Amino acid sequence: MKKWIRNGTVVTASDTYQADILIEGEKVVAIGSKLDGKDAEMIDATGYYVFPGGIDPHTHLDMPFGGTVTSDNFYTGTKAAAFGGTTSIIDFCLTNKGEPLHSSISTWHEKARGKAVIDYGFHLMVSDANDQVLEELGAVVRNEGITSLKVFMAYKNVLMADDETLFKTLVRAKELGALVQVHAENGDVLDYLIKQAIAKGQTDPVYHAYTRPPEAEGEATGRAIALTALADAQLYVVHVSCAEAVRRIAEAREKGWNVYGETCPQYLVLDITDLQKPGFEGAKYVWSPPLREKWNQDVLWNALKNGILQTVGSDHCSFNFSGQKELGLGDFTKIPNGGPIIEDRMRLLFSEGVAKDKISLNQFVDMTSTKVAKLFGMFPQKGTIAVGSDADIVLFDPTVKRTISVETHHMNVDYNPFEGMVVNGDIISVLSRGSFVIRDQQFVGQAGTGRFVKRSTFARP
Ligand code: URP
Ligand code: ZN
Ligand code: ZN
Ligand code: ZN
Repeated sequence: MKKWIRNGTVVTASDTYQADILIEGEKVVAIGSKLDGKDAEMIDATGYYVFPGGIDPHTHLDMPFGGTVTSDNFYTGTKAAAFGGTTSIIDFCLTNKGEPLHSSISTWHEKARGKAVIDYGFHLMVSDANDQVLEELGAVVRNEGITSLKVFMAYKNVLMADDETLFKTLVRAKELGALVQVHAENGDVLDYLIKQAIAKGQTDPVYHAYTRPPEAEGEATGRAIALTALADAQLYVVHVSCAEAVRRIAEAREKGWNVYGETCPQYLVLDITDLQKPGFEGAKYVWSPPLREKWNQDVLWNALKNGILQTVGSDHCSFNFSGQKELGLGDFTKIPNGGPIIEDRMRLLFSEGVAKDKISLNQFVDMTSTKVAKLFGMFPQKGTIAVGSDADIVLFDPTVKRTISVETHHMNVDYNPFEGMVVNGDIISVLSRGSFVIRDQQFVGQAGTGRFVKRSTFARP
């Protein structure tokens, strides 16, 4: 079956132009003004932007963490993602020390199978770079299409790896052409600060932020960069939150090193005062790294605009306030870290970024889709609208307004950190490989139609 998207404004990372799009099966087969739409279903895109589907490079679906499990699984999470204009995600496959990588990867494939409504890939966590793991990474990267490796420099005694593990991973990643990702905070220093706070009876949610200072993020970012340079490898710093980290990434990029950075809507829109809300409300705003002082937002927007940071991920990691966030009542260290953003990532970036003239429309497409596809080995199958690419396409109306709310969101979680915020523009329809998943803001997709994407090894974009 053919589809003919007519009269829209096509937006890619480089161009904005009027054109029709012809889709046959799962692929875009023609773009232009005089297409032969005979026998095709016509889709009227008058007044709409037509973007490539978003690619969210950072999600945690169905993940055990903080003594509980994230509330969105691969069905509810990918469905919510689709409502928000995202047609692919890359989720983090956790590993356990001493366990073969393949058993963790199988576990993650099982979580997704039969549930995902959009396409997905996996990043693989490296918790222990012993000889067996380093050997097994060869098969994972070369044969399984998992070409990015995640090392946590924080969460001591839980997920944290030491510098030896990080460095060995970088050296192996250089050999294999894998992109190494780091959660950059100095976990040893945080552990000390957290213990001191608890000893003093400082247990409210805001101490989560006070015990994770920006210097600890800057230091770890700088250390990861130094080790990357030593290994002559490639590095992607996830969820950059502050000026201290941006400065290190900017310096590395000036030297021409393969260092990239991601930020998230929460750091662009929210700030440390949200953690100070009365009662236990602040628990809704517990992310690691924490929300920062508001002035950091300008630094992050400028870094996005100037190409110091390349992508915006959601770091979607949802926990219900009731029963999950509440695990930390009376002890902030027990609040599960993370929040629900998968559905609003694109809306927030468009409204706060494009509509407020902080980034261009083409940069918006680059940060939410194209650059993600390029950095993570999915381009040109994904991340653009081009002949031969997957027909992952969003119809977006820039003229309407929407109020973000738990009442209307589709994430499986009992609050929204952006409750009541009015955003400019909204997602109308979404196609995944040529099939509607969202049509006129209604879900028409199906569990299990999302496919695992085997990704290519790293190539400098
Ligand atoms: O607070 C966060 N970011 N939770 C998710 C896990 C992680 O560190 O990315
Ligand atoms: Zn395998
Ligand atoms: Zn993290
Ligand atoms: Zn994360």
